[in-house]
Amino acid sequence: MKTTQLKELYLKFFESKNHKRIASASLIPENDPSVLFTTAGMHPLVPFLLGHPHPSGKRLCDNQICIRTGDIDEVGDASHLTFFEMLGNWSLGEYFKEEAISWSFEFLTGKDWLNLPIDKLAVTCFAGDKDAPRDTVAANSWRKLGVADDRIAFLQKEDNWWGPAGEIGPCGPDSEMFYWTGHDLAPKVFDPKDKHWVEIWNDVFMQYNKNKDGTFTPLAQKNVDTGLGVERVAMVLQGKTNVYEIHQLHKILETVKEIANVSGHPTHEQINSLRIITDHIRASTFILGDHRGITPSNMDQGYILRRFVRRIIRHLRLLGAKYSGKPLTPMLAEVVIDLYKDEYPMLNERRDFILTELKREETKFRETLENGLKMFDKIVASKDKEGQSKTALSKEDAFLLYQSYGFPIEMIEELAKEQKISVDTAGFEEEYKKHQELSRVGAEKKFKGGLADSSEMTTKLHTATHLLGEALRQVLGNEIKQKGSNITPERLRFDFNFDRKLTPEEIKKIESIVNMKIKEALDVTRSEMSFEQAKEMGAQAEFGAKYPPIVSVYCVGEFSKEICGGPHVGNLRELGHFKILKEESSAQGVRRIKAVLE
Ligand code: SER
Repeated sequence: MKTTQLKELYLKFFESKNHKRIASASLIPENDPSVLFTTAGMHPLVPFLLGHPHPSGKRLCDNQICIRTGDIDEVGDASHLTFFEMLGNWSLGEYFKEEAISWSFEFLTGKDWLNLPIDKLAVTCFAGDKDAPRDTVAANSWRKLGVADDRIAFLQKEDNWWGPAGEIGPCGPDSEMFYWTGHDLAPKVFDPKDKHWVEIWNDVFMQYNKNKDGTFTPLAQKNVDTGLGVERVAMVLQGKTNVYEIHQLHKILETVKEIANVSGHPTHEQINSLRIITDHIRASTFILGDHRGITPSNMDQGYILRRFVRRIIRHLRLLGAKYSGKPLTPMLAEVVIDLYKDEYPMLNERRDFILTELKREETKFRETLENGLKMFDKIVASKDKEGQSKTALSKEDAFLLYQSYGFPIEMIEELAKEQKISVDTAGFEEEYKKHQELSRVGAEKKFKGGLADSSEMTTKLHTATHLLGEALRQVLGNEIKQKGSNITPERLRFDFNFDRKLTPEEIKKIESIVNMKIKEALDVTRSEMSFEQAKEMGAQAEFGAKYPPIVSVYCVGEFSKEICGGPHVGNLRELGHFKILKEESSAQGVRRIKAVLE
């Protein structure tokens, strides 16, 4: 079964259980400064898991594109990917454990559905600790369906608990499903540590909120969040033993082989490089394909993208791919675009952008790569004062490779590991901070980071963002559109299309319109309607963003109307005083405003 068929079958199955299909959210979370990428379907749904009504109802299903850089070191094995598609079904305060588990079981084993043999399945449940009891309800549900006791393992929080990805937020015990991918018969007793058991689906029972003080309290509504890994299940259904053998990934990997002239039986190292390149080029193409226009840089998502692309280039070199001045990454991205463009039309629409950015980044890195590698070898070969060989790269060595040759620290660590030496990474971080180049560290921290921050201040700033958008249209013209938004509890950041610096008078005028509206204490109301109706009534939509058929529209009195998932304050009197801190260029034809509420 192809991945497209699998996705359709899954969504149909859950539609038959009264779920509404919703579109995949963007890979780059909006209004959530705590994560760089959407790492799971739950990120865009956090406000709804917390009780905010979802325009499509209480039972949803989706196919969400995700990026997890936390798994980057595992890429190269049979089943870990940084970019992947995840199917999910959601209960927002409706059905709970028993239904979720019985539907998972029915979809996996039912004759009309995946028809997988039950003797190759095993599950894990939460073992219980001081915060929450052992999940006997989940285990009993599996037992009732015919899963043998030997195939049910109870594990602790590290394995059987999902969320909050950050400090606080919705979370709960989960129950994971595993499939036996070994050639032999599946062992009678399930050992979750055996690599032949591959996790394919996860049912999360979100019933707690983790608080700031580390305690867990029951959520107002009990939710279900499930995630089925498309590539892994496709692998199982196609009788393959690693995800790189499924149609799309296989095609990308074969192209890498061609470009690098790898033939015959690749060595273990070659397989590793081929898989890393395959995974990273797909992830990079999807990041560049996002309408928010992320480009390789030393900041946030741009840094992750840079890391991916530069790692691809080094591994192409390891494979012996010849570079004759024509960048290789755009050729690979073309394959990714063609494979996915029907399902993800934005990739085709942004083809030129994707190829140009890859070309630019590859050309730039190629300028320093060879000399950087020579420098690395020289450093490794040098002896210390006592005439001893290197056992570690100093912070100065690492910083030199970073600063002068553009080697991401993770690449330096990878090179060092291959030579069996270590790197003074902590020292590098100090050095890095000294040079005041923000954000790479921040980026990683944030990536591990948290869920949507729906704190009071974030909500207020979100409402202020709508006011700002409207005030900009009144002062600068109706064609002003949101090109991006990012809110932290400290400030809002708003990007819009405009091609010159704003004058101080314009900035004053914008501020005073917003403050006037706040004084008028307008009500903020939400209504649901079809996307067409919303457009007809003149509701603003973000340029290039995809919307589901039914949307929420937030109106601020008669002043502003916008398609938006919320949440927002109920009345503008909650906001305080609005002040613009900064107005600057963000990209060609795009300006950026940072503003606060005092
Ligand atoms: N959030 C869970 C996961 O990503 C289920 O969707 O595994």
